[in-house]
Amino acid sequence: MSLHATGIRVRYGHRDALRGVTLHARAGEVMAIVGPNGSGKSTLLGAITGTVPHEGRVMLNGRDVIGQKPWALAAQRAVLPQTSQLAFPFSVIEIVRMGLQSGTAGDRPGVALHALRRVGLDGYADRPFQDLSGGEAQRVMLARVLAQVWAPVAHGQPRWLLLDEPVASLDIAHQLQVMQIARDFADAGGGVIAVMHDLNLSALFADRIAVLADGQCIATGTPREVLTDAMLSRAYGCTLRVSALPTADVPFILPHAATA
Ligand SMILES: Nc1ncnc2c1ncn2[C@@H]1O[C@H](COP(=O)(O)OP(=O)(O)OP(=O)(O)O)[C@@H](O)[C@H]1O
Ligand SMILES: [Mg+2]
Repeated sequence: MSLHATGIRVRYGHRDALRGVTLHARAGEVMAIVGPNGSGKSTLLGAITGTVPHEGRVMLNGRDVIGQKPWALAAQRAVLPQTSQLAFPFSVIEIVRMGLQSGTAGDRPGVALHALRRVGLDGYADRPFQDLSGGEAQRVMLARVLAQVWAPVAHGQPRWLLLDEPVASLDIAHQLQVMQIARDFADAGGGVIAVMHDLNLSALFADRIAVLADGQCIATGTPREVLTDAMLSRAYGCTLRVSALPTADVPFILPHAATA
């Protein structure tokens, strides 16, 4: 089972934001999408989830998403946007339960509280959302998404987590915690696509990495295949040295070795 996005093109006015991107993610894997600011990562997630008008085709678990009911899609995949704005004062638990209302994950009692515990926010249920710190708020949003697709496999079909910069405002411990949640979801049979800026976390946790640059996918492969000096220079326009962890042979990139 897989998530296939083929030939995705998006235009904003006269500008092409995506110029025919093809992405193939598999259940059981974490796929990271990396690339510079403005390269089209969020636009691609938006096209995959149907919020951004596009040309091309998206097949989820073998079925075209076009024509599927919103509730049917919500039961199969949950989306963490890069930014979330709320116009009304909600409590933390109300936000997490929104995931249950919009999906059909089975509003088993306690799922919302389990999801909060999973992101390290035990005891936050009744706190006003707008009083939270940036990182706490981000983890509440992740809990909402987790609650929506709590079981990584349902009715024999994988579910999907589509995460746009899930660790952007988190401290290092919570970055690791959230990446482990993604890893566990995939290991249990679900599929994860995560937009990432941290190349080292991507190398550690992703099975495969897709590199976007200027609206095109310029590479897809394992971290070792993709994270090379040449590819990173091409994508980001600066020189970055890739080394490998001696024990695990996982690539790592030290920013202080960069030259503009
Ligand atoms: N609603 C919009 N209207 C017009 N242009 C847009 C819109 N949304 C995005 N763009 C443009 O499309 C391009 C891709 O944007 P996108 O948000 O997908 O980038 P990104 O790779 O997610 O970047 P970042 O790492 O900064 O989040 C950018 O040049 C952006 O300015
Ligand atoms: Mg973005």
